[in-house]
Amino acid sequence: MKILFTLDDLSEQEIHHILQEAETFKKGKTYDKLVGKKAANLFFEPSTRTHYSFVAAQQKFGMQVTNFNVEKSSIKKGESLYDTVKTFEMLGFDCLVIRHPQTNYFLELDNVSIPILSGGDGTGSHPTQSLLDLMTIKEEFKQFKGLKIAFIGDIMHSRVAHTNIKVMKRLGLECYVVDPFGLGAVEEKSIDIEEAIKEMDILMFLRIQFERHGYDLSVNPQTYHKEYGMTKERVQAMKDHAIIMHPAPYNRGVELSDYAVECEKSRIMKQMENGVYIRMAVLKEVFNHEPN
Ligand code: CP
Repeated sequence: MKILFTLDDLSEQEIHHILQEAETFKKGKTYDKLVGKKAANLFFEPSTRTHYSFVAAQQKFGMQVTNFNVEKSSIKKGESLYDTVKTFEMLGFDCLVIRHPQTNYFLELDNVSIPILSGGDGTGSHPTQSLLDLMTIKEEFKQFKGLKIAFIGDIMHSRVAHTNIKVMKRLGLECYVVDPFGLGAVEEKSIDIEEAIKEMDILMFLRIQFERHGYDLSVNPQTYHKEYGMTKERVQAMKDHAIIMHPAPYNRGVELSDYAVECEKSRIMKQMENGVYIRMAVLKEVFNHEPN
C-alpha cells in the first residue's frame, strides 16, 4: 500500500492486517525503520484528533514532523493543491498526510510519487477514522459479523458515516441509519431512534456539521437533543453489552449529553486513543512498498 485515500483501496485481508498491526503497537511493539523519515501534515480543514494522532504516531516512530500552515503558505497566493503537494515532494519529504475540504481531492494527485495518507476529503472518505472505529469495535466484540450498528445524525455530510457503512457492510455488520434531516445520501435501512437504542449493539452518533450545510437547517439544539440526542434515559435503555461511539468532536447537549460522553457504555475516549495506533499501522504499511 503506497497511498490510503479510501478503504475501497484495501482488501478485507489488508484491513484485518492493519487492525492486527495496530493492536501490536498498542501492546507496546516498537518499530525503528521509519526513524528520521520526513513526514509533512497538510491540513486544509481544522482537525485535532486526526492531525495530532498522526503527529503522535510519527513521533513514536522517530520521524521528523512538519506541520503545514495553510494561512502562511503560497496557497494564499493562489497556488493549487497539486503544485503545493509536488513542492513537498521536491523538498525531500518522504510522506504526506492530507486533509482537504474538496471531496476526492486526491484525484488530482496522480503524478505525486511519495506516499500519501488521507486525513479526510470533504464529505467523501475518512479511512483512518473508520479503521480506528473498527479497532474499537473489535476490541469490544472480538469480531464483526452480525453486529448491528446504527448511525445517528447528519448522515449526508458525514464522511465517517459514508466510509463506515461501506466498509462495515463488507465486514459483515448490519448497518442502519437514523437520519433526522432526511437528507442522507446513502440508501440504507432506516430505523426509529427508540428502536435503535433498544436493538443495536453499537450506536454511533454523528456531529451536526453546520459548517458544511451552506443553508440554515433551523436546528434547535434542545429540540434535537430531546428527539435524537443520547440522553441519560436513552443510555439506560440500551442493551447491556451495547456501546456508544462518536468520531468527535461532539456537540455536548446536542447529539450527546454530558452523561453519555464518559458513561461506562461510551467508547469515545478509546476511539481517540486507538487513533494513534491505527495511524502507526498505516504509516508502517505505506512505507512497506519501498525497498529498505
Ligand atoms: N474525528 C475526527 O476526524 O476529528 P478531528 O476533526 O478533530 O480530526
